[in-house]
Amino acid sequence: MKLLSSIALTSILTATIATAQTTMCFKENHKSMTTIETTALSGGECKNQKSVQDMKKEGWSVVDINIDKTENGTNYIYIFKKEEANLSSINEKALEEKILNRLEERKKQEIATKKKEAYLRKSKSGEKLYNDKCISCHGKNGELKAKGVSRPINSLNLQDFMLSIQGYNNGDYDRGMAFVMRPYATLMTKKDIKNVYVYLRSLKNKKEENPAEENK
Ligand code: HEC
Repeated sequence: MKLLSSIALTSILTATIATAQTTMCFKENHKSMTTIETTALSGGECKNQKSVQDMKKEGWSVVDINIDKTENGTNYIYIFKKEEANLSSINEKALEEKILNRLEERKKQEIATKKKEAYLRKSKSGEKLYNDKCISCHGKNGELKAKGVSRPINSLNLQDFMLSIQGYNNGDYDRGMAFVMRPYATLMTKKDIKNVYVYLRSLKNKKEENPAEENK
């Protein structure tokens, strides 16, 4: 159990206690002390069918008894309590597993959220750079053949995207008009390249999710 943070444990134990059931049963004007435990009780979960003994067999325990003598016998009121069966029977190992799974789940969610946030951040800064510096030649969605010679850059994979821009910087890539592209290539850091790539990819994903957008 040492892996468990006491906070997680406390919250689960509290939840267990909170799911305990209570019920009240009674018997009026009963004559004999000796038979009361085996006599069917009225009310609550006893429903005129179950005696104290029956209730105990079903996992109820007596938490309070009220006994009142009357002219015709004795009135008994029983308060029973039962922990939710499945929870009280969970052994420590299963409980620990449950908690660990829950923590694991939460961690996964956190990682997913972080990833998504990072993706959005990249996409956002890619969007700014793209709209400031690239859109005029490569089109709103990177769909144009710039000056008639480039490939539509929204169709490149990350590797091609990086290699071609590095190529312009090194001077070893030219489809005929590299001199037009080179000043922009030199502007971009590796991060910029990735961000723009992520941004163009996000536009594509949006379209695939919602094809109607294309006609706007
Ligand atoms: C003034 C026009 C112009 C601007 C602005 C421009 N480019 Fe280009 N880009 C071109 C041309 C022309 C080519 C093709 C050059 C060649 O002949 O190889 C090209 C090629 C590319 C390629 C390689 C395409 C391929 O087919 O391999 C990428 C990637 C690219 N540009 C990205 C960008 C990015 C990102 C920006 C903004 C930071 C940008 N470009 C800004 C004109 C432009």
